[in-house]
Amino acid sequence: MSKNIAIFASGSGSNAERIVEYFSDSTEINVKLFLCNNPEAGVIQRAERLNIPLVMFNRQQFKSGEVVDILKENEIDWVILAGFLWLVPKNIVEAFPNKIINIHPALLPKFGGKGMYGHFVHEAVVENKETESGITIHLVNEHYDEGAIIFQASYPVLPTDSPEDVAKKGQVLEHKHFPEVIEKAILGQSLI
Ligand code: GRF
Repeated sequence: MSKNIAIFASGSGSNAERIVEYFSDSTEINVKLFLCNNPEAGVIQRAERLNIPLVMFNRQQFKSGEVVDILKENEIDWVILAGFLWLVPKNIVEAFPNKIINIHPALLPKFGGKGMYGHFVHEAVVENKETESGITIHLVNEHYDEGAIIFQASYPVLPTDSPEDVAKKGQVLEHKHFPEVIEKAILGQSLI
């Protein structure tokens, strides 16, 4: 039986698209659904182009359990957060114990927590004169960016790098590793 995944995204959705491409021929993992909380998000056009069903939801539906019902109706096994900005409520964490995976564009625990997302992370990395940054893929609990880390990869940050340069380096690593790490986590393979 193949495993169904749902991808939550609030923004552009480039990672969501990579994940769809990666699993397009898979017999084991099926991208069943995109979910989005932001009517302006680029992921909406991607869903249409990729022919993936999309569910839009608001905060009330997220908190009340309506979103869990949608996930259950679609027989979702794993939830992937790919640039999703809201804190996941208890009802979803409890419905998918250790089956929610997030990607964060820094080496957690550095540059994590509420408000640390997107360009804020990369600006902080440059301001702090970090010599390296990276990506973290982790399981999700009820606190921002605090679940068990399952994968990290790093890249050098040069003194001349702008936040945009740092963001680009991170995105290359995200697109390369995120689908593979999802695959290994779901199929129960070793991550090292
Ligand atoms: C990624 O950098 C991810 O780490 C962060 O949000 C960004 C999403 O990018 N959580 P995209 O929407 O997949 O292009």
